[in-house]
Amino acid sequence: MSSAVVIPAAGLGLRLGGETPKAFREVGGDSLLVHAVRGLKAATAADLSCFVVAVPAGAEEAVGKELEPYVGDARLLVVAGGAERPDSVRAALDVVPVDGIDCILVHDAARAFVPADVIERVVAAVRAGAQAVVPVVPVTDTIKRIGPNGEVVDTPDRSTLVAVQTPQGFAPEVLRRAHAAGAAIGVTDDAMMCERLGVTVQTVEGSPDAFKVTRPQDLLLAEALLAERRLR
Ligand code: C5P
Repeated sequence: MSSAVVIPAAGLGLRLGGETPKAFREVGGDSLLVHAVRGLKAATAADLSCFVVAVPAGAEEAVGKELEPYVGDARLLVVAGGAERPDSVRAALDVVPVDGIDCILVHDAARAFVPADVIERVVAAVRAGAQAVVPVVPVTDTIKRIGPNGEVVDTPDRSTLVAVQTPQGFAPEVLRRAHAAGAAIGVTDDAMMCERLGVTVQTVEGSPDAFKVTRPQDLLLAEALLAERRLR
């Protein structure tokens, strides 16, 4: 048995600015997508045998050529993504092989620097029997719920809150069932789709390095992180 990873990389990344879609922005000479694939490949205990990447329509062939050198003997499939993230994940999930796969990861290309131990913890938890697994980190801000006019409604107890990262890991049948159920309106991650089915989602320890490149300052953070890793 081995695992597969679905990488949604079809977003435009408007909050980041610039002309290039986010996953193809370069940091330290490589695209975020290349960093993400290299990071997944480094997680040897995850046994990744298949990478499926969803990219903007028309970019499939070029991205396939770009990523081929980084996947080793794993299979690489590149598909056109959709209008929203769940559409991109679904398009990729449709081509993940059914046989021989005991865990499917869904990993944002924008979380390009996730450490191998986080990836391996997620896969291990799925293999130990969890149906859905998310890596989490504590929240450092106080979080408030607000009403329609921006007024504060309440302040949840911070000790009960976590920020959720990727890769998220799933028993294949559960992820397929969640996507087949549709109703992705307002859904921001795949675990949320499983929660709506009543599936228990387990948490494992994430990492600050698994931050999502979203705003221009995140590119500076990414450069700093790469520089620090090169010194190790
Ligand atoms: O926009 P956001 O940062 O939440 O996107 C998270 C990930 O989902 C990114 O890797 C982005 O490329 C991907 N995405 C996608 N298809 C979309 C929108 C986002 O694959 N339509």
